[in-house]
Amino acid sequence: MTIPADAVEEVRRRNDIVEVVSSYVSLRKAGRNYVGLCPFHGEKTPSFTVNREKQIFYCFGCGEGGNVVTFVMKVNAMTFPEAIRHLASRAGVSLPERRLTAAEREKVSRREQIFEVNTLAEGYFRRSLHSPAGERARAYLKNRGLKEETIETFRLGYSPEGWRNLRDFLASRRVKLELAEEAGLVVKGQKGGYYDRFRDRLIFPIHDMNGRVVAFGGRVIGEGEPKYLNSPESPVYVKGRILYGLGINREAVRREGYAIVVEGYLDLLTLWDRGIKNVVATLGTALTRDHVDLLRRFADGAAVVFDADEAGRKALSRSLGLFLAGGLPCRAVVLPEGYDPDDHVRAFGPEGFGELVAKARPAVEYYIDTVFGTRGAVDMDRTRLRESLSFLAAIENPVERNLFIRRIADRIGVDEAVLKREIGSTGGEQQVGAPERAVREARTSGSKADPLEVELIRIFMENPGSVPLSTMREALGYYESEELRRFGGRLCDLPPEKIGADCAALLDGLADEGLRATLLGALVTRTSQGEGDLERYFNDACRQIRRKWYRRRHRLLRMALLKAQEEGNEGEVRKLLEEKERLLQEEKEEAPKRRNSEVDHGKGS
Ligand code: CTP
Ligand code: MN
Repeated sequence: MTIPADAVEEVRRRNDIVEVVSSYVSLRKAGRNYVGLCPFHGEKTPSFTVNREKQIFYCFGCGEGGNVVTFVMKVNAMTFPEAIRHLASRAGVSLPERRLTAAEREKVSRREQIFEVNTLAEGYFRRSLHSPAGERARAYLKNRGLKEETIETFRLGYSPEGWRNLRDFLASRRVKLELAEEAGLVVKGQKGGYYDRFRDRLIFPIHDMNGRVVAFGGRVIGEGEPKYLNSPESPVYVKGRILYGLGINREAVRREGYAIVVEGYLDLLTLWDRGIKNVVATLGTALTRDHVDLLRRFADGAAVVFDADEAGRKALSRSLGLFLAGGLPCRAVVLPEGYDPDDHVRAFGPEGFGELVAKARPAVEYYIDTVFGTRGAVDMDRTRLRESLSFLAAIENPVERNLFIRRIADRIGVDEAVLKREIGSTGGEQQVGAPERAVREARTSGSKADPLEVELIRIFMENPGSVPLSTMREALGYYESEELRRFGGRLCDLPPEKIGADCAALLDGLADEGLRATLLGALVTRTSQGEGDLERYFNDACRQIRRKWYRRRHRLLRMALLKAQEEGNEGEVRKLLEEKERLLQEEKEEAPKRRNSEVDHGKGS
């Protein structure tokens, strides 16, 4: 289903970019702009800038930028129609809805369809939990101490015993079973039929940040193997990008300032049930950089729960590297042996668990203690040392890295320089952080354009009605950058009100990412000229661009001439000399105009 252009336009107009961004990033006013920590890359000083006047954002750290729609698309990993719908409901704009024809239905994105199937399944599982068949599951939940409110908030369910309950239900709702298979709800059998993946299990739906169901986990009721069964990854479910509970608990996380990170469904649910709500769960998978980046949007830190055993220590080392690289402070909550958070809070209450969290030390300190203990370097296994230090190279902030290195050096009694050399040879640097750096470099390296050419386009975009088109077109003729010339030409063909309306969308017409980022950056930071100033500034810029063009041509001619002379190519030399004459003449003819404008406007440049 396509959303009509005027509806898109209204949605955009009704969603102020500063307000929308504020629900993801905490912004503060800085001059004419708002700044905050970029949600798209790890940083500690704000380079993410939002301009309300122009309704655009731009990050000077990573080059990400655009308008309110692209922001929502990027931050939530949504498609364009998803973002428009999201913003429409946010601003109370009703989008034209109509019944879809079969052909249109085919076209609705695969993702949307999977969300629909998942929602149907979630409803089915919830009804089953409250049906007579769900009695054992209800008793199990009660036994684990979960209140009705918790069960409802997290929309827990039950998949009844049998091979085709959900399958038949979905079929009765005209869901294509291949789609249900892609969503991970049914499995294709040997004979080609489909059967339910989840049978006689307690169901935990997994939601994304917008409350949509992306996957399910199913636990056996009581004892049995496998204890948990999970949806496979799908177009809507990428494990390393989802934190269980963050959608529901984001406000609590923001309020507390940090998130408690646990592993399991029931760890999170029991804590939540007992009033500890700033919790998220990784669902037994290893923490990823995406998880850290996701958390950083809502939290200033994390308290990660680790086991006291060797496995816990390994997990800590991995996670710590990610937190350090992502610039999110992390504390280590260490549970007494034999407890997970669920057991712990049931045994010692929210006060007991809360105390554990409150006294959790920075993960870095805990790490140094556990890995290096109080032993000297003598019995320190070299391989183990190198292994455990590989992540050090990934700490981007050199001050922090050196601080850390010094502490370790002190602790194990080695010379700091020796330790640094050791770290330098682990090659960890190439692993973490490198892709981002590469993206950043790719983004900015393309912008070889003359700043003046960029500037002229910026002025034109900001004052679309008041800059004379003929002068603009003339200036464009002297542009060095082909792409900017073409882009400027397209701008000249647009009615002025179109240019003012959404400059970020227009910039999408620039294929060169570097140029796009440069222009966005300029649009975000620069102030519009006053009207009187504007004309003079504009004329000056035009003149300089023209002058540069002639200088380039002269230089090229000079080089060609030299070459021809060296080669003794008389004919070519004559031709080039004639051309040089012509160029000088041409430039002189332009000159009176130039002098006039200098008289009119004083010294100019
Ligand atoms: N997990 C999984 N598959 C398994 C075991 C575990 O996906 N076979 C994931 C689940 O998300 C689980 C988490 O890892 O919640 C932690 O596992 P575990 O500690 O074994 O389970 P608990 O969450 O403690 O569940 P319970 O208290 O019911 O035993
Ligand atoms: Mn448990």
